[in-house]
Amino acid sequence: MSRSIFQEAGLTLQRMVWSKRAASWDEMSNPGLDRVVAELISMVGDRPEATAIDLGCGSGQLSIPLAAHVKEVFAVDIAPKMVELLEEKLDRQGVTNVKALVGSVQELGVGPSSVELVCSNYVLHHLSDREKAAFVSDAFSWLIPGGEIIFGDMMFGRGATAEDRAVIAEKIKTLLGKGLGGWWRIAKNGVRYLFRIQEKPISLSAWVELLKKAGFVEIATTRIVAEAGIITAKKPLQ
Ligand SMILES: C[S@@+](CC[C@H](N)C(=O)[O-])C[C@H]1O[C@@H](n2cnc3c(N)ncnc32)[C@H](O)[C@@H]1O
Repeated sequence: MSRSIFQEAGLTLQRMVWSKRAASWDEMSNPGLDRVVAELISMVGDRPEATAIDLGCGSGQLSIPLAAHVKEVFAVDIAPKMVELLEEKLDRQGVTNVKALVGSVQELGVGPSSVELVCSNYVLHHLSDREKAAFVSDAFSWLIPGGEIIFGDMMFGRGATAEDRAVIAEKIKTLLGKGLGGWWRIAKNGVRYLFRIQEKPISLSAWVELLKKAGFVEIATTRIVAEAGIITAKKPLQ
């Protein structure tokens, strides 16, 4: 996909923002996110022969537990600082089947039909809608026939459906309960969300449409906590 100056700027922004946030993200405790990761891992199950990619791996919140269930994980993140933190953890924990790489979802050189599993957690809402569609079709090409894509993320649209409005209302209610800090986050995230800067989530049903269009089958959606959902889908055997 050819890249406009705005898309280049978007990638640079992600790299800068996440390099700066790497240490605090690594140390943060978030029970909601932990639930999404736990659910994702249980959907993966045991696949001792599988090669998996974890896109936007951060400091390994998904890659490290995933490594215990597959043969190997290629963990990719745009922020070099995240990859550095992941490599330190892999060394400390003696995990040898994760290869950490700096790279972006948009520019991965993965060969066609070369992996069994494509995973990601809380990353894809950073892609523009055009990049999401390109990612879904790239993932389809990377997977072997019968291979699977499993990803979790914040999944809600811009308020067109009752489900969107319920998720947004619940998010606002939770943040209002957190006092001044919460109000600041409503203002900050509201602007990002409305103007599609940094936060660009789409609904579960919009993801399903993208996956269908790319050729995926057996598409299943699960809502985990208010804003978060997980989607699984398969590349057909033929
Ligand atoms: C919210 S964190 C999630 C990290 C980890 N997956 C987790 O579950 O905690 C988002 C991560 O996505 C990475 N990221 C954002 N845009 C990316 C892109 N276009 N390509 C690769 N990684 C990206 C960021 O650097 C950051 O580490």
